[in-house]
Amino acid sequence: MANILCIGAGYVGGPTMAVIAQKCPHHRVVVVDINEARIAAWNSDQLPIYEPGLDEVVREARGRNLFFSTEVDRQIAAADIIFVSVNTPTKAFGQGAGRAADLQYWEMTARQILRNASASKIVVEKSTLPVRTAEAMEHILNSNGQGLHFDVLSNPEFLAEGTAMADMHDPDRVLVGARNTPSGQKALEALVEIYANWVPRDHILTTNLWSSELTKLAANAFLAQRISSINAISALCERTEADVSEVAHAIGTDSRIGPKFLRASVGFGGSCFKKDILNLVYLCDYYNLPEVAHYWEQVVKMNEYQESRFVSNMLTAMFNTVAGKRIALFGAAFKAHTNDTRESPALAVCRTLLEERAKVVITDPKALDNARADLGPLADRVTFEPDPYQAAQGAYAIAVLTEWPQFAELDYTRIFKSMVKPAFIFDGRNILNHAALHTLGFNVYAIGKPALEHLK
Ligand code: NAD
Ligand code: UGA
Repeated sequence: MANILCIGAGYVGGPTMAVIAQKCPHHRVVVVDINEARIAAWNSDQLPIYEPGLDEVVREARGRNLFFSTEVDRQIAAADIIFVSVNTPTKAFGQGAGRAADLQYWEMTARQILRNASASKIVVEKSTLPVRTAEAMEHILNSNGQGLHFDVLSNPEFLAEGTAMADMHDPDRVLVGARNTPSGQKALEALVEIYANWVPRDHILTTNLWSSELTKLAANAFLAQRISSINAISALCERTEADVSEVAHAIGTDSRIGPKFLRASVGFGGSCFKKDILNLVYLCDYYNLPEVAHYWEQVVKMNEYQESRFVSNMLTAMFNTVAGKRIALFGAAFKAHTNDTRESPALAVCRTLLEERAKVVITDPKALDNARADLGPLADRVTFEPDPYQAAQGAYAIAVLTEWPQFAELDYTRIFKSMVKPAFIFDGRNILNHAALHTLGFNVYAIGKPALEHLK
């Protein structure tokens, strides 16, 4: 039996450790966090994050071999393998502000491990980090002067929110990077053994440390790049009467391109794409590769353009003013099937509409609490309404900003009747039946498609 510890009980630490505990009943898994409220929620029936299938897995393992605790120091002392899954946000101050990763939580954790360890341990980078962070980690940990040895592994996480359980249960690949030394390879084997309890060996890739760290940044950059690419095409579609869904489908049938991740949208959100690309950009500049930095930075810029273009289109269609108009935002989460609103395009649209003095109402099946918290003082100017019918009542326009399937199933005849005319609908996720809405009387604006209007 191994004592496995994870420091950081967030969107990654909680679900990944729950699955390890589920699949490895012979290991003891403890997840610790300094956030007491979060740990209390993990120990309750109301888990701190919404993720389909997570409740069942936690219920199966919690109390058996899965434990959530705030006793960071004591659990470090008891652990053989320590995953570090703390947040690594974009640095908001000093050198590299707005681009580099803020590594203060990460380094705090390394020093805390050092203070509380009385035996050698394996430390696993689960957080997404700049390439060569493991080297800094090794320097800190192996400065202990007590003869303790720490092997640092990189094991980036590729799960996506909303499908985290399926991604963990059946991953495309698990990646482990290690030093090519006898003890590095032994540590690597120990971690591979854990995953091999449910992941086929040929899905477990092993590389050197730096390749593993860089792969995580590169994978997110490639994924985000596909979205920015199709969103760039969507802008051109809107000018030329091409339809981005048809173009995406036709492109995606080329087996070299493939059909996934080509959904044009109001823009990508989530806590990681922007942060990780900016981190990559910073690294490229740091290593004096300005052309490479510039190339990747465009992916983020295109996303910002897409978000602002969406609101500009709304303004233009609505006679260049939304001041005083009630506008219903359908969706706050950055994608469907999560309550996460970090970097959500819905909140970016909300902020811009507030600047334009619109009366914004937001509806979302899971993410209203997080939306309220993320908007901070602006939340006082927004109405949060769980019922989409109530949200649309008396509105001049609806903007669909999260692809929750239930938004496509609403009774739009009823909604149309309750709205101010002419009624507008802006589908930032292309999930609605645009022709049917147009027939009902809506002026319909989708991403990368010709507008369907009654205003001539
Ligand atoms: P999160 O903010 O949800 O969770 C991080 C947790 O770490 C917080 O609860 C925080 O209180 C805790 N923490 C911070 N410092 C601590 C300390 N010194 N001791 C104990 N706990 C501490 O973040 P997240 O979304 O889980 O992301 C964690 C890492 O995983 C990031 O590097 C992120 O880039 C990466 N990642 C995230 C996702 C995702 O889908 N969210 C997917 C892959 C990788
Ligand atoms: C993403 C990656 O998919 C994960 O592999 C990675 O582990 C994770 O980031 C991370 O490092 O945090 P996530 O952000 O949870 O996962 O969700 P995605 O499904 O990637 O969606 C990201 C954003 O892109 C969402 O706003 C989504 O709506 C948008 N998107 C996605 C599109 O606009 N179009 C698409 O075709 C796909």
